[in-house]
Amino acid sequence: MAKDIAAMEDSNRSANPSIHDISDPARRVVLRGGLGAAFAPWLAPLGAATGLAGCAQPGGESGAGAAAPRIGFASVPASAADRVTVPEGYTATPFMPWGEAIGIVGAMPAFRDDAGNTAAEQALQMGMHHDGVHYFALDGSRRGLLVMNHEYADDGLLHSGGMANWNVEKVRKSQAAHGVSVTEIAWQGDRWQPVRPSRYARRFTATTPFTVGGPAAGHALMKTAADPAGRQVLGTINNCASSLTPWGTYLSGEENFAYYFNAAEQPTPHERRWGLRKGGVGYRWHEHDPRFDAVQHPNEPNRFGWVVEIDPFDPQSVPVKRTALGRAAHEGAWVAVTRDRRAVVYSGEDARFEYIYKFVSRDSIRPGGGAANATLLDHGTLYVARFDADGRGRWLPMVAGTGPLAGFADQGEVVIRSRQASDALGATKMDRPEWLAIDAASRWVYCTLTNNSSRGQLGFPGVDAANPRANNVMGQIIRWKEDGDFDGETFEWNHLVLAGDPANERAEAKGNVKGDVFACPDGISFDARGTLWVQTDMGPTVMNRGEMARIGNNQMLACDVATGEMRRFLVGPVNCEITGATWTPDGRTMFVNIQHPGETPSERSEPAEPRRFSNWPDFRPDGRPRSATVVIRKLDGGVIGS
Ligand code: FEO
Ligand code: CA
Ligand code: CA
Ligand code: CA
Repeated sequence: MAKDIAAMEDSNRSANPSIHDISDPARRVVLRGGLGAAFAPWLAPLGAATGLAGCAQPGGESGAGAAAPRIGFASVPASAADRVTVPEGYTATPFMPWGEAIGIVGAMPAFRDDAGNTAAEQALQMGMHHDGVHYFALDGSRRGLLVMNHEYADDGLLHSGGMANWNVEKVRKSQAAHGVSVTEIAWQGDRWQPVRPSRYARRFTATTPFTVGGPAAGHALMKTAADPAGRQVLGTINNCASSLTPWGTYLSGEENFAYYFNAAEQPTPHERRWGLRKGGVGYRWHEHDPRFDAVQHPNEPNRFGWVVEIDPFDPQSVPVKRTALGRAAHEGAWVAVTRDRRAVVYSGEDARFEYIYKFVSRDSIRPGGGAANATLLDHGTLYVARFDADGRGRWLPMVAGTGPLAGFADQGEVVIRSRQASDALGATKMDRPEWLAIDAASRWVYCTLTNNSSRGQLGFPGVDAANPRANNVMGQIIRWKEDGDFDGETFEWNHLVLAGDPANERAEAKGNVKGDVFACPDGISFDARGTLWVQTDMGPTVMNRGEMARIGNNQMLACDVATGEMRRFLVGPVNCEITGATWTPDGRTMFVNIQHPGETPSERSEPAEPRRFSNWPDFRPDGRPRSATVVIRKLDGGVIGS
């Protein structure tokens, strides 16, 4: 979702000191030696079952050969066209757009391009606004499960007449368009096709039951009239980024959950700190589903903002909210593994002046997939990051009753009020942390900081070393390397790149990009060859204008992290965002999501004119734009990016 709703993302007014220091890009280091040295042996036994072998996805672990990363394609030019552009020698084919039946046995309603599908039908179809995605192999690179997030709904497109005559059916359809989908897919001759019906096909929506794991389970702040035990939550919402765990499950972040709740005219301090406000941002669910009215149900918002874990290989599995990882407007969560096989989960909070977190599990990963690791993420230590001006950093333990957290009664309160705990600990307020990617070859961890136009503005924190630009409309990619193993408490850090067009006149907008210019990095993922794929999310009100005039539509670039070179691989249709990237184990198919083509400046379409900005991918004269996956292949069948 474009983040023009500033009031919702700058609820951090705590007084943590800001360090007035400008980052020094000259501190760059050469990161990658031979990839071969970094092969992660713990991947090998899992690979056959999960599609991990030789694949970069579990925390971006690289398992490919010894050659340095290479970018083997010719850059595509910036473009404002309403189409997907990829380099010569590649194809990009739309796949499984919003509204396609996912293949639940006996229930496969066809998409209606007049928004005529019912709420019950939407719950059996692909949700809206595809985001994080992962391929789980069932049969290597020939058959697998495509599991993806559907971040949010554009109610102007979703319903006949948009939000006019708002009613319970429209609320239910909006809720059904959210969440996560599991689709079985197979390579059939010359293309990927959904396998329908499939026993794996599932939808998780804003009403699906989730259990609660970790220290917030059963906490007083989690209890509601409908769930007096505080252990079962209906639904997951605003699922943004996703990742694969080394034990073969899917992690998804609940991002801007606050948007969906109605608060009182004067929210409580806790609600205010979490961005709740009267009316939310206009989803209007609370008008027909009182659960989303925080005035009536003040603890219900505490039950969102978690990282959720789903085991797609087990169609009967119950999804879990993993509260030990902390509550946040989570973009997503990514797992690294210590040498003694404990899980280290990095996550960030995409909101202005919020934080970066890490969780270190108490126990080691066990063989046996999701079932054998069902409580792994429920026990461990949570930390929040402080980036110091000298290129060093520290993970601050978030432990109830200790140090500045002496006033937190128990660990449940720490994780539920993690923003307040991080404020108290003096963590560094970041420029909207989005995706992370872990390079196991070098053990550097990368995080996109997409932008923060409030940085340095009156009443907001000033620049610091990690967030070095005022009115930061371009964003940057930061990276760190732990001292010792991934569970270390100290690290070194620097910036991979400050985004922005060097031709810009304003110093803060120039950036230091080598190669093709871009802005607002969001999705990042390493492929098996060690190439870092960077996806952008410029908002519709700034794209192709002013300081972003030469950058074109949102896009995906490949970065050789050894040299810092960025090369543009894909440009999306008008007013879309590019997000989510996953590969088959052989690296010959890449799946990338095109989110909200034709997004309007208000983020809600005009129902009388749904195709005003775009009608990708169907281009029907009377149709509407649809978020979709694109399948990227090389015409010669080779490895993507080679
Ligand atoms: Fe959902 Fe931070 O993008
Ligand atoms: Ca978006
Ligand atoms: Ca994002
Ligand atoms: Ca974004």
